[in-house]
Order: sequence, then structure tokens, then C-alpha cells
Amino acid sequence: MSLGPDILKIKDLKKNFGSLAVLKGLTLTVRQGEVLVIIGPSGCGKSTLLRCLNGLEPVQGGQIIFGGQYLTDPHINWSRTRQRIGMVFQNYELFPHLTALDNVLLGLIRVQKRSKTEALAIAERWLTRVGLWDRRGSFPRQLSGGQKQRVAIVRALALEPEIMLFDEVTASLDPEMVREVLDVIVNLAKDGRTMLIVTHEMAFAKAVADRVIFMDEGLIVEDAKPEVFFENPATERARRFLNIFQFSDIHKPQEPSASPLAKEAQDVKESNDAKESNDAKDSKEPELS
Ligand SMILES: Nc1ncnc2c1ncn2[C@@H]1O[C@H](COP(=O)(O)OP(=O)(O)OP(=O)(O)O)[C@@H](O)[C@H]1O
Ligand SMILES: [Mg+2]
Repeated sequence: MSLGPDILKIKDLKKNFGSLAVLKGLTLTVRQGEVLVIIGPSGCGKSTLLRCLNGLEPVQGGQIIFGGQYLTDPHINWSRTRQRIGMVFQNYELFPHLTALDNVLLGLIRVQKRSKTEALAIAERWLTRVGLWDRRGSFPRQLSGGQKQRVAIVRALALEPEIMLFDEVTASLDPEMVREVLDVIVNLAKDGRTMLIVTHEMAFAKAVADRVIFMDEGLIVEDAKPEVFFENPATERARRFLNIFQFSDIHKPQEPSASPLAKEAQDVKESNDAKESNDAKDSKEPELS
């Protein structure tokens, strides 16, 4: 799918929590229709980045420019801007006292001031698309994790945001429910939706990403096409990170020279063997005499 003009520019973004510098001058440009997957070790600042883009964290430096508007301007109207930047979290954050349908209707009616009829038509279209129209009367506690997450995605999409942010939306799900949620996101990518996706699902990342952003310690360390990043990462840090997700090597017998401990282990074994054979000799001798 061909990409549109730049929609989001992040320039030298700095975010601290007290004395802890979490984003250390991060720069990134996203084009319309682009799917960016953001990966990196725990604590490197992925969630903080998405939260800054959604106005959930004040920043200490740099700029975020979205569709020509400076989101780092302190006078920004976040209620209006958040309709243009949808965000879905790991823990759904649905309103527990509202049904699936009412969770979706709320923003359409209260925030966007649409008529009930119009809002219902939009909610029906989206809930049907994710296979949940027949569960519209269920409360969150009556839905599975995968169903709750699909409602949360639909609630954000119903407002027609220009960009969607997903923060580890499958991390709380049982494995059999991960797929149903990832399938929804893959279909959104096919529609040409602009998305920033933080995930630890590497196979999904490979399949859905136009670009992979690898972060470490508050900075972007690699920014590459998925086939390049996953096959041949440029940095040692990314290689080490990707190795965590590869299990094929774990049970391979190690070459003695591969491990610095192997030589020591061999020495200990040889000295033990020698000791055992001496002990055996010692214990046999009295019998002989
Ligand atoms: N509200 C907060 N107050 C203080 N420190 C915070 C706060 N939120 C995050 N941090 C710290 O900022 C750093 C980055 O956190 P962040 O949640 O962005 O990491 P992450 O990359 O999303 O990690 P994970 O993969 O575990 O979700 C961490 O050291 C974290 O402890
Ligand atoms: Mg996180």
C-alpha cells in the first residue's frame, strides 16, 4: 500500500520521571498509512512514548507535531485531540458498569455529540466487524479477555482516529485469544490505517510492520524494514534482544571452546576422575593385603 505524507513528527523528545531520564531526545517521523512496530527491552520507554503522544504524560523537551499541530503546546485541547489519536492499553480499561455497546456509544454521544441513531449505526458496524454485535449487551465481566480487548479496540476506532496507538494489547491474554485480537489489527493494517504498535509478539511484528523501531534506554537504536531488522539487525543490542525470542539454540550441545567455563569444567572433571581412581586404588589396596 502506498504511503501518504508525514502525519506525525517527533523531534528530540525528552521525558523525565524526577531524576530518571526515560526518553532522551527521541526523533521519529511517521507517514500516513504506515504501520510502525515498536519493540525493545522492558523499561526502555515504549509505553512512555505512546503515553506522551496521547497527552497522558507531560514532556520536558522537544516537539510532537501531529497533522501540523504542536501537541507539545501546553494549551492543546486534549479532549479534541484524543479523538484523532486512538489508544488501546494492555488492560482494556473498559467501563465495568457499561455494556459492550454502551462502552462504544459513550464517546460517540458524549464527546462527539452524535445522535443516538447515528452512534448506534457506527457501533453496530464496528462491533459486527469484530464479531461481537451479538455480545453487545454483555458487561465486561461477562466477556473473555480477547472479547474485552476487541471491544476496547472498537471503542477507539469508532471515533475515526487518524492514528492508532496499541500498547501490548495482547500481553494479558491467554494464548488462544491472542490471535483473534492480532487478526483485528492485521485487518486494520490492510485498510491502510496509520498505527504505532508496541508488542512482544515477534511473528506478528514481522507480518504487520512496514517499519520496525527498536528502542533501548530511551532512544531509537534501529529503524528498519522488518525483513532487514529480523534477519540482520545492525546493532549487537538488537541481536541480543532478538535472541531472547529464539529457543532453537538452547538445547544444542556446546562446543568446549564456545564457553569460557567449559575448560574449567573439564579440568574439574579430570581432577575428580583422577581422585576417584586414586580413591578406588586406596580402597582396594587394603583388600589385597
Ligand atoms: N509514572 C512513572 N513514575 C516513575 N517512573 C516511571 C513511571 N512510568 C514509567 N516509569 C519508568 O520509566 C521507565 C520506562 O517505562 P516504560 O513503562 O515506558 O517502559 P516500557 O518500555 O513500556 O517497558 P515494558 O516493556 O516493561 O512495558 C522505567 O524505568 C519505568 O520504571
Ligand atoms: Mg510498556
